[in-house]
Amino acid sequence: MSKTPAVIKTISEMREYTSRHSGKTIGFVPTMGYLHEGHTSLVARSVAENQITVVSIFVNPTQFGLNEDLDKYPRDLDRDLSLLSQYEVDVVFYPDHQAMYPENFKTFVEVDKLSNRYCGKSRPGHFRGVLTIVNKLVNIVTPHFMYMGEKDFQQIFILETMLKDLNMTTKIIRCPIIRETDGLAMSSRNTYLNKTERNNAKCLYFSLILAKELYLDGFNNVNFIKSQMTSLIYDNGGVTDYIAFVNDKTFTEESSISDDTRILLAVKIGNTRLIDNMKIGEK
Ligand code: PAJ
Repeated sequence: MSKTPAVIKTISEMREYTSRHSGKTIGFVPTMGYLHEGHTSLVARSVAENQITVVSIFVNPTQFGLNEDLDKYPRDLDRDLSLLSQYEVDVVFYPDHQAMYPENFKTFVEVDKLSNRYCGKSRPGHFRGVLTIVNKLVNIVTPHFMYMGEKDFQQIFILETMLKDLNMTTKIIRCPIIRETDGLAMSSRNTYLNKTERNNAKCLYFSLILAKELYLDGFNNVNFIKSQMTSLIYDNGGVTDYIAFVNDKTFTEESSISDDTRILLAVKIGNTRLIDNMKIGEK
């Protein structure tokens, strides 16, 4: 069945919609658009578990660094709406820049320490932008549940920390990474890759699988596994930004590997920076 979702562009109309539906459970999927199956997996789950589903599409400028891809970030609202019409989405919240960041906007949200590691180290200010926009969106949409992909694992952990620390009642539902058939995690940024780069990009997934196999074969030395992963990535034309071994529950760095270890990595393939992660103790 196909149902084109209502598109709401103003904050006041969005608030009015949710207050009109108070009493119903609201599931929310925040996105920057150019949707793929990773996004729609979150949408499908929200639709299955809630009475109302709101998807937001907003390419948030404050989470892009000065030399990053804000201008060339892919955008196509018609394509996104036609994809979403295959699901029972109620509303697409599609605010413009002026609505979200009016003149004299001055308030930003930060999560101490966590925001400056890994992706935050390579992308200073990135998580401050993510935290600020998600805080605003949650205040406007007032969802019970927010569906987010484990593809951006650090983002999930930092947002969970914000929700808890600021006594917000929205709960994050962590959803698994959706991959292409060759293992590459789906991402709007994959569209930047040329044919050779697209082929090389498989090395992120392969390096995680290699780490998992080594761990399951009895190796648990972080430095050894890291060096094996780095070599595999290098041999496939990738440049490793970071490889981190963190505890899945606490996000603390691990010096030896256990079933709770999640490996996070960021790799540059040509000019495109890709991320991926895997819980390696999972069979
Ligand atoms: P965006 O990159 O559009 O991603 C929106 C949501 O889709 C995030 O929760 C992300 O983790 C999830 N997602 C992306 N690729 C996925 C995949 N292959 N499998 C499963 N889930 C996937 O993340 C953002 O936007 C922004 O930072 C946002 C939270 C919207 C704030 O601006």
